[in-house]
Amino acid sequence: MIVLDQENKVFTLHTQNTTYQMKADSRRVLLHTYYGPRIGGGDLSRLIRYADRGFSPNPAEAGDDRTYSLDVLPQEYSGGGGGDFRLSAIQAELADGSQVVDLRFTGAEVRRGKYALEGLPAFFAGEEEAETLAVFLEDAVSHLRVELLYGVLEGCDLIARAVRVVNLGAEPVRLRQVASLCLDFQYAGLDLVTFDGRHAMERCPTRAPVRPGVQGVGSVRGASSHQHNPFVVLCEQDAGEDHGLCYGAMLLYSGNFKAEVERSQFDGVRLVMGIHPQHFCWTLEPGASFTAPEAALVCSPDGLGQMSRRFHRAIRAHLLRDPLEGRRKPVLINSWEAAYFGFDSEKLVRLAKEAAALGVELFVLDDGWFGERNDDRRGLGDWWVNEEKLPGGLEPLVERIRALGMEFGIWVEPEMVNEDSRLYREHPDWALVPAGRMPTRGRSQLVLDFSRAEVRDHIYEALRPVLSCPGLSYVKWDMNRSLTEVWSAALPPERQGEVYHRFVLGVYDLLERVRRDFPHLLVEGCCGGGGRFDGGMLYHTPQIWCSDNTDAVDRLRIQYGTSFCYPPCTMGAHVSKVPNEQTGRTVSLDTRGIVAMSGAFGYEMDLGELDGEEKEQVKEQTAFYMEHFELIQQGDHYRLSDPFQDGPYTAWAHVSPDGREALVCVVTGCVHAAAPFRALRLKGLDPRASYRVNGGEERWPGDVLMAAGYPLPMSMGDYRSMRLYLEAE
Ligand code: GLA
Repeated sequence: MIVLDQENKVFTLHTQNTTYQMKADSRRVLLHTYYGPRIGGGDLSRLIRYADRGFSPNPAEAGDDRTYSLDVLPQEYSGGGGGDFRLSAIQAELADGSQVVDLRFTGAEVRRGKYALEGLPAFFAGEEEAETLAVFLEDAVSHLRVELLYGVLEGCDLIARAVRVVNLGAEPVRLRQVASLCLDFQYAGLDLVTFDGRHAMERCPTRAPVRPGVQGVGSVRGASSHQHNPFVVLCEQDAGEDHGLCYGAMLLYSGNFKAEVERSQFDGVRLVMGIHPQHFCWTLEPGASFTAPEAALVCSPDGLGQMSRRFHRAIRAHLLRDPLEGRRKPVLINSWEAAYFGFDSEKLVRLAKEAAALGVELFVLDDGWFGERNDDRRGLGDWWVNEEKLPGGLEPLVERIRALGMEFGIWVEPEMVNEDSRLYREHPDWALVPAGRMPTRGRSQLVLDFSRAEVRDHIYEALRPVLSCPGLSYVKWDMNRSLTEVWSAALPPERQGEVYHRFVLGVYDLLERVRRDFPHLLVEGCCGGGGRFDGGMLYHTPQIWCSDNTDAVDRLRIQYGTSFCYPPCTMGAHVSKVPNEQTGRTVSLDTRGIVAMSGAFGYEMDLGELDGEEKEQVKEQTAFYMEHFELIQQGDHYRLSDPFQDGPYTAWAHVSPDGREALVCVVTGCVHAAAPFRALRLKGLDPRASYRVNGGEERWPGDVLMAAGYPLPMSMGDYRSMRLYLEAE
């Protein structure tokens, strides 16, 4: 619910459990007055105190009032170059070269439904499910107008935000930064949690108190990156899974981003998040507008677990555009770790046959099927079928796979080109690199200039016959290097600062075309595993290959970190062979199954190499997943321990929203002799219900399971697993 008090210029956004408020004061400065647990309302600017602070200057219209300084006030969207020395949300270079943006309130309105953003991912909602608040600010000298959009998804406790800048002046303006979100906290004492890592070890949480000055994370790699995720948390310093005030902020963007936090001299905290200003400069001609990507906020008064579950629900219901619309996703087998580049039709059909017999439903042909792609040094860009490997093209293979009762999927990497390819030989100027420079290579490949429509059109036309292949139901969309030497032959020098962003818009454009023309295709995102795991990609690809690391023990950490924002159904997770290709570790098939099942489940190995007993296990796993798909994919996710603590076990649970059904998963750590007894306290159950355990005779009361816990058996061997399926009677 949005309460618009036009007289006092107080604008209050209520979700079911939270309240957010801003107020334009008498000088038309838009102040941020509150974000936290839901409260009645009223004018919360009473929370703001004024004092004469040394070296915090006063705007002209404050006259003699030295207690009024933008440097001290909590602001809704900070300008730049004026009297606020904290992080700016917007930076611009005006026609006269000055860099002052002084934003003042000019109006506000409420609209039914949730706004959409052209060409950019955004949460969506029905007319009845959401409202939009639009607040208008303007710089009186340059006539730069900033529209702040707030989409209130009341039932999900999520507030989406976007920013549109319009040049109402007569001269061009160069935008150096347009943040998607600025959030001020007057009274701080907060921790910042970021999700960091590297290729094959993504999204490991890092938590530290917000210290004086600026700290933050970002990416200038052209993709949101393996190294830092465009999702951050600010929380009270004693906040844990189940208590404490927490704020999560996600950016729905797949390119360069920056999330910065500043603790001010008076211990206020400001979060600013958006496109990374480095390499960014957007020329805004008179009359033109620029839209910053969407950001989304969730506040949870009751800990990090509740914050995550709120994000999960909102993402599942209002961001993912899943062609299966809630229907069960097929269990898949991916050819990569089973065959790499060394396959022909016969080998693929054999892999598929083995998998089909064990209940696997979708066969995904990974890299290596096109052009001269016999290794990872050549072929990208040549999206025609390599008939030496697949005689007669894709169709005969697909028919044989379909005859096994399986669906068929395929891998592509549309944004890339190898120099050793027909495409590159014909269009060397389509790769990103300024004339006269040698390009930096990554995985022996270059990046196509997706800011150019003709490049995208060509790739789309080349892919179209593949996407049109009868029987194709799934596509894995990969992206295997970072962007360097970013420069487009199609743009003038003064617009080169737009290329990174135009590249991302180009990727979204192509994905949108695929969706428009092939709405039945389930597209899984990938970027060397989880290098582009963000809300922007999730809008286009409802699941993303979580990491190239398929080791179950490392996956405990990766999936744990990923779950702070993103729901399990978005995390591609496969059982692969042992010893694991990335770590050399051997973990039981049971454990590999339990871990992979807590994501978008599949296999990535030659199942024909398993012995009879293991094959029976795979059959049991696929059958169990199919039976409990909804609980695992749509249930509430509870993190029951932190795998980074290297404790005796890692545990988590999927619980139905009514608490009547739960799947509890436990993976033990390294065993030690004569280990102490342990009980695992569960969460989210119905305290009054009696639960049947694993379909057997055992019964446990919900209150006991939550208050005292379930006693864990002693483990023999490292990384063993246990599954408790609980049903209330
Ligand atoms: C990336 C992906 C892998 C696989 C290979 C193929 O590394 O993350 O899953 O598809 O590319 O080259």
